[in-house]
Amino acid sequence: MDITAIYPGSFDPATLGHLDIIGRASKLFERVVVSISESSNTKRFAFSEEQRLAMLGKIIKPFPNVSVATFGGLLTAFARSRGSAVLVRGLRAISDFEYEFQMASMNRYLAKEIETVFMMTSPKYHYLSSSIVKEIARLQGDITGLVPPELVEDVQAQFQL
Ligand code: PNS
Repeated sequence: MDITAIYPGSFDPATLGHLDIIGRASKLFERVVVSISESSNTKRFAFSEEQRLAMLGKIIKPFPNVSVATFGGLLTAFARSRGSAVLVRGLRAISDFEYEFQMASMNRYLAKEIETVFMMTSPKYHYLSSSIVKEIARLQGDITGLVPPELVEDVQAQFQL
């Protein structure tokens, strides 16, 4: 089967956990579109769309079948516009489950033909999240080993005092 998968998220910023899912998804699907949700009234991001797009652009370079896009509005509408019927989400722990279950169920209600596929995050990244990376960077801690090496400076610069 020739499948384009959408890997949606805020990626505010992308972490090594995200990169792990990108690399693994790129082996499963013909194409993967890392899809960055645009800024909205309901969600405030530390990084602009342009910054998140640029950062993801840097880290997908090793994967020729992976591209990056931004989307606004409903994820299911965006997936349909890209001819994709597969959404990929990473699951870290049981605590992620309720939120992911609600989102996957709602997306299925909105678009029956679209499947959400969950990938377990590699154990070494179970503790990692964009929020915790931002907290450490904000407090001037070392984020090496938490985000891809190409992004360490970009993230630190955003929180420089
Ligand atoms: O990285 P995140 O913040 O967990 O990603 C959440 C995201 C962007 C995938 C989710 O908020 C989303 O799909 N937003 C688009 C709006 C939408 O379609 N909402 C209905 C689905 S429940």
